[in-house]
Amino acid sequence: MEDLEHLTLPVTHPTGNYDVTIGYDLLGQVGKLSATEDHVALITDTNVGPLYAQQAAKQWENCVVITLPAGEAFKTLDSVRLAYEQMFAAGCDRQTTVVALGGGVINDLSGFVAATFMRGVRFVTCPTTLLSIVDASVGGKTGVDMPEGKNLVGAFKQPEAVIADLNLLKSLIKEEFACGMAEAIKHGLLSAKDVLPTLTQTDWGESLRNGFTADDRSAFMQLVHDVVAVKRDVVQRDPFEAGERALLNLGHTFGHAIEQVTNYDVRHGEGVAMGLVCAANVSYKLGFSTIDLQSVVEDMLKKVNLPVRLPRVDPEDVFNAMQQDKKKKGKKLRYILLKDFESAFIAENVPDDAILETIRDLQNW
Ligand SMILES: NC(=O)c1ccc[n+]([C@@H]2O[C@H](COP(=O)([O-])OP(=O)(O)OC[C@H]3O[C@@H](n4cnc5c(N)ncnc54)[C@H](O)[C@@H]3O)[C@@H](O)[C@H]2O)c1
Ligand SMILES: [Zn+2]
Repeated sequence: MEDLEHLTLPVTHPTGNYDVTIGYDLLGQVGKLSATEDHVALITDTNVGPLYAQQAAKQWENCVVITLPAGEAFKTLDSVRLAYEQMFAAGCDRQTTVVALGGGVINDLSGFVAATFMRGVRFVTCPTTLLSIVDASVGGKTGVDMPEGKNLVGAFKQPEAVIADLNLLKSLIKEEFACGMAEAIKHGLLSAKDVLPTLTQTDWGESLRNGFTADDRSAFMQLVHDVVAVKRDVVQRDPFEAGERALLNLGHTFGHAIEQVTNYDVRHGEGVAMGLVCAANVSYKLGFSTIDLQSVVEDMLKKVNLPVRLPRVDPEDVFNAMQQDKKKKGKKLRYILLKDFESAFIAENVPDDAILETIRDLQNW
């Protein structure tokens, strides 16, 4: 396998370990890299499947391709049932490996299918969005949305391998690439400030689509590796979100609420970008950080085509939506704030006024 252009990031978890492989032209090598010889249920969606499923499936003699409708709206138990039904129809059993080929939605859904089909089968994930590479594919959280809220039913299911073929990102639309950059910048802010200048210095999505120079090709692979390593380190230290892992929600309390009140016109990564600015702004207002930190965060986000101001929304609506946030502990909402780069912390007792003021100040009108 020496001829493959890739980097490997080992992950340990409470019940074992696996490798995240990040590189180019890996799709045809998933079987070898994950020691998955046969009996595969390849779960993908209606956007990714037509582009890549055939190329992936042909490496196994016995592979059923299950194509689910694309998008967050279909991250449901109905889709899980569809997958089970097609697996039974194809004769899948306990020896089957579920291979996910898609973005975070397919990763989370397929992981849940793998955790539950016949009480659990092997799971391999091939993330195809930047967001799912740097965030969703590592950490073992899987599940589906319910009418009552996002990700409310699920299981921890660790993959046998994560294989990220960066070539597949070429077909990703610009906006989705940018969403992945929002999570990448978040990881950089949390504990990899050294990657931030390189991460935001060029439009990596554009260069990828237009054909990388040899230097850029390996630089991008290294960057993705370093950003995934942030998530790896956090989930290794806190696999079940007892403490530190909550820091990965930086920007998310605001972000989720903005997504919700705009009826999801704002994509997740865009909400996170706005949320990062909000977090920096509240941190400044409460005297934890400087206004310069907010400016630097904004500049980085702007460079990668992400929004840094909120759309026209009623601040009260956003505030109320935030109160539904899952991270609510007891009655008081906890916020992830910043003192500086690499020094995020969980803040209790943040005054409601400061939050409302930030939402008002950062509106785009
Ligand atoms: N498990 C976790 O720890 C974790 C962490 C972060 C996010 N998530 C979940 O991830 C989901 C968001 O993930 P996402 O942003 O990848 O969304 P997604 O899976 O919906 O993908 C975004 C869009 O891009 C399309 N797509 C995917 N790969 C493509 C490719 N290579 N070329 C062309 N189109 C492609 C998809 O069909 C979809 O339309 C959310 O459901 C979120 O809850 C999970
Ligand atoms: Zn996120």
